[in-house]
Parts: sequence; C-alpha cells; structure tokens
Amino acid sequence: MSILSGARIIVGVAGGIAAYKAADLVSKLTQAGALVDVVMTERAREFVAPLTFSALSQRPVWADLWEPTGAAAARHIDLGRAAQLILVAPATANVIARLAHGMADDMLTAIALASSAPLVIAPAMETHMLAHPATVANLATLRERGAHIVPAEPGRLASGEVGTGRLPSTATLLGAARLVLGSGGDLQGRRVVVTAGGTQEAIDPVRFIGNHSSGRQGFALAEVARDRGAAVTLIAGVTALATPYGVTRIDATTAATMRDAVLAACVGADALVMSAAVADFAPDAVAEHKIKKREVAARDGADMTLRLRRTPDILSELDAARGQFPGLVRVGFAAETRAVQAAARDKLARKGLDLVVANDVSQPASGFGSPTNAVWLVRRNGELTELPLLPKETVAEHIWDEVVALLPTRAARA
Ligand code: PMT
Repeated sequence: MSILSGARIIVGVAGGIAAYKAADLVSKLTQAGALVDVVMTERAREFVAPLTFSALSQRPVWADLWEPTGAAAARHIDLGRAAQLILVAPATANVIARLAHGMADDMLTAIALASSAPLVIAPAMETHMLAHPATVANLATLRERGAHIVPAEPGRLASGEVGTGRLPSTATLLGAARLVLGSGGDLQGRRVVVTAGGTQEAIDPVRFIGNHSSGRQGFALAEVARDRGAAVTLIAGVTALATPYGVTRIDATTAATMRDAVLAACVGADALVMSAAVADFAPDAVAEHKIKKREVAARDGADMTLRLRRTPDILSELDAARGQFPGLVRVGFAAETRAVQAAARDKLARKGLDLVVANDVSQPASGFGSPTNAVWLVRRNGELTELPLLPKETVAEHIWDEVVALLPTRAARA
C-alpha cells in the first residue's frame, strides 16, 4: 500500500497561473487514497473555481476564513492539527512571504500557523520574482524552519519568457509528498543502493546485446525505500523511466560500468538490492565501425560468428571483497525460466547473498516489462515465501520488509 493511502494532506493553492496544475495534483493524490483538503487563497479563486477541487477531492474546499457562517474560522485549527502534510502548490512570492513571516490573515496561512505538519512548498512564479533577494531570503527562512522546498523548473513561463519558475510536474510533487511523509520510516538514517534496468554490450557503434528489462522493478524498489526514509542511490542501466524525486541516480549501462558504480556506491551503505538484468557475456571486441555484411562475407562466408567473453559478476565480486562492505545486506534477483527455486538457492549460496528474489520470467505479467511480478523470497536459512502476482511496488514493500528485518544484525555481521 502506498504511503499516500489514507494520508491527510492539505493542498494549498495560491493565486498564480500554475493553479490549474494543482487540479491534476489533487486528482492524483485522491486516486492514491489520500484525504485531500484543498485550501485556496482569495486570488487562486480567480484562476480556478473551488468546485473543480471539491469535485476532484470529493471533500469541501476551504477558501474564505471570514465567510459569514463561521465554519471556516472554526475549522482552521482542527484542519491544521489533523494534517500529516501541508503541500503548497503553486506557492506564489506573496504566500511564501506571508508564510515566512508567520502571518495568518487568510485560511491557508492560518492553517499553516496552527499546524505542526511538515510543510512542502513548490514555488512557481516569474523568474525575477523567484530570484529576488526577498523571495530567496523568505525561502531560506522556511527551509531553516524545516520546510521542504521543491525547486521550480526551467522552461517557458506564462509571461512568454524562458527561465526558471515553472511548477514541477505532478509526478515530482507526488514524489516530494511521499518523501516527506515517509521521512520517519523504518529505513530512516539508512543508505541503500538499488540497481535497475538492463545493460547493453556494444557489438559495433550501432548494435548491442541487451535484454528486456524496463527498470520498473528497480525503480519501484528505489521509490519505496525513499518512502520509508532511506537515502537511495539508484544505479540505472538502460531504461526510459524518469528519476524518482529525491533519489540519487547514477547511469551505468554496461556490466563493467555498473560493476564500478556498485562497488563505489556500496562503501558505507546498509543494503544493496540488485534487480538490474546484467549481461553475463559481452562481445570480445567492439568493432570500431559498423560491421558490413559484404566485409563479413569476404572474410568468413555468409554467416557471422560473434565471440563473447564473460562480464564481471558484480555480486560475486562484492562477496569476494566483503571485508570492504561491513554489514552490507545483499539482495540478489534470479530471473529464471525453469527450476526457479533450485536456481535461486544456488545463486544465494554462490553469490553469498542474504536474500534472493526469484521470478519466473516465462510467466505472463511477471518479470520483464510488466507492472506486476510474481516472486519467491528465498532466505539464507533455506526458508521460502511465495508471493502471488502483485504490483511491483508491493513486491518492493515485501523486499524492504525482509531487508529491515536483516538490518539489526548488521553490527553482529560486521
Ligand atoms: O526491469 P523490469 O522490466 O521491471 O524487470 C524486472 C526483472 C525481471 C529484470 C527483475 O525482476 C530481475 O529478475 N532482475 C534480475 C535479472 C537477472 O539478471 O537475473 P540473473 O539470474 O541473470 O542474475 C542473478 C543476480 O546476479 C541478479 O541480481 C543480477 O543483478 C546479478 N548479476 C548478474 C550478472 C552479472 N554479471 N552480475 C550480477 O551481479
């Protein structure tokens, strides 16, 4: 279950043109199971009608602190108290200034002052307003007080100019909400390394040996670890996926570069989860120029023979150098098409792992490319748990549960 499920979140919408983008944010938060109370500033209502947000959140929208029934004034304290997160998106220069100075002259600022919930601010405004020393100082004040600032992005602004000041994508804002909500989770203070995606081993400048890994399982592992409070290094092979918010990404698209990246990242880390599909063999030599059929035919006849050499086995190298990684919990995957459990047990022993996640990649909807996976968790003591077909995020939750259970033994293993 996502960390957003059941979370009480206040989305503060201030009066900037990016207010319309908050509708998508509220929709996605609500779809993820969050209880979203939208609080709009007076000016925000000139850009988007409150009805848009109440329809999307299926909850009342709070806008006017001073409305005559007194309901809003009465609710601002308990709304602030119940909130687990206040996310202001877009945050204008004006709202940022008022929050920084503790003003409470409308519903949003009054709730923020009455709440001890973490504050996430997503500034969106014209470049010069964002770069103005007043705004810079106000954001620094809020940051010092513990607010999490999601950096505005560069691009085309409503003024027609190009500069920094755009509201980040909904995916980024959701990532920021998840990171902050999960910051006190059971991986808090831990540093974990995750590999994802496939490697590509060049044959010539235009061809390679690769595999079907999309990176989905590894990226889900990285996101879930972040949501549980870990500092995450994601070593990404070939993938089209966007970097999850708050995760440090290192691209390594060959077995050799992934080996170097993993060995470097694991120094001082608490856990490694190797979900990347790393090539076991690579062409012995990479042709400098594109290989031509005619040239091959003249040399070897019609067919071409490609000589392959073994790539470094990253997990085995890590095991051989285990003294450099005291206490590192090591999780490998096994992608198999037959005798899955036996192969997983063999890999666990050969690679000196704490846990193997075995998937039968011959099954539809499991393994490569799919949003779901069906895995066995194979433990060092020989125990085995079979999980049904689950979303890759849920599989990731189960894997981190196992890692968390292994972490307290670090000191003993070191
Ligand atoms: O990316 P997706 O589309 O979401 O698909 C997910 C997945 C199917 C790629 C994933 O669930 C998975 O099974 N990943 C491991 C794939 C794999 O390479 O398995 P393997 O049985 O060949 O390797 C065993 C383990 O050794 C793996 O943890 C692998 O990362 C590691 N390895 C492999 C080769 C090598 N040279 N060095 C390694 O360390």
